[in-house]
Amino acid sequence: MGDWNPELYLQFKSERTQPSIDLISRINQAEPRSIIDMGCGPGNSTQALVNRWPKSQVTGLDGSAAMIQQARQDYPHQEWIIADATTFETETRFDLVFSNAAIQWIPNHEELLTRLFNLLSENGTLAIQIPLFLDMPLGKIINKRANDDRWRAQTEGVLDLFTIHDVSFYYDILSKLFNSIEMWETNYMHVLNSHGSIMEMMSSTGLKPYLERLYSESDKNDFKEEVLKETIKAYPSQMNGKVLLPFKRLFFIGYK
Ligand SMILES: C[S@@+](CC[C@H](N)C(=O)[O-])C[C@H]1O[C@@H](n2cnc3c(N)ncnc32)[C@H](O)[C@@H]1O
Repeated sequence: MGDWNPELYLQFKSERTQPSIDLISRINQAEPRSIIDMGCGPGNSTQALVNRWPKSQVTGLDGSAAMIQQARQDYPHQEWIIADATTFETETRFDLVFSNAAIQWIPNHEELLTRLFNLLSENGTLAIQIPLFLDMPLGKIINKRANDDRWRAQTEGVLDLFTIHDVSFYYDILSKLFNSIEMWETNYMHVLNSHGSIMEMMSSTGLKPYLERLYSESDKNDFKEEVLKETIKAYPSQMNGKVLLPFKRLFFIGYK
C-alpha cells in the first residue's frame, strides 16, 4: 500500500481520536512507567495517552515515514519510531501496549497479539481498538462497487489488506494470554456536513487501498462517484442537511 497522508487523515481528527480517549479512560492502570502506541499515525492517539499519563515514558511507533514526520513536527518532545509492528524488536518491556485503529491493516492477528503480549512487562496491559469497517453499510458499498465488472480486475485482492475478526475470535486468543479481559463495541454517530464529507473521511483510510489500485484519475473519480451515489441512498440526510455516519468499533483490554 502507498504511504499515508497525515494532512487528509487529520481533517477528521476529533472523530478519529475520540475512540482513543474512550479506550484510555477505561484502562485500569494508575501510573504505567512505559507505554508504546503501535500504529500511532500522526501522534493523535499518542497525545491522548500523554494527556492521561503525563509522567509516563510514551513512545509512538508507525510504519509510515509521512505519519511519523507529522508526529515529530506536532509533538517534537516525544519519542517516535519508524518501524513495522510485525518485526519490531526491543529490550524494553512496556506497562501498556496500546493500539488505536491500526491493527486492521496488519495480517495474522493471532501472531500479532502474541507479539504485542510479549512486549509487556510483568503486570502489563494490552489495549486495542479496531474499526469494524466491513460490518458497516459503507464498507459493504465500497466492496460491492469494487467487485463490479468494471473494477474487479483492478481491485482484486484489496479486501485481503483488511484483517478484522469478530469478538469471539479475539476472545479465544486473549483468554490464552491474559488473566482478565474486557471487551465492548461502540457505534459512534459521526455528524458530518454532507455525503461528500463521508467520502473525504474515507479517502484517507477505508477507500485508500481501492483508489490506489485504480490506474487513472478518471477511474478514481468514477469509482468515488459510484460509491457516493450508493452512500447517499444508505445514509439519508437529516432535516438540517447533516448526515449521520454510524461507525462501529470493537475495543478490548487484556490485563496480565
Ligand atoms: C488509521 S491510522 C491510526 C492512527 C492513530 N493511531 C489514530 O488513532 O488515529 C493507522 C496507522 O497504522 C499504521 N500501520 C499500519 N500497518 C502497520 C505496521 N505493520 N506497522 C506499523 N504501523 C502500521 C499506518 O502507517 C497508519 O499510520
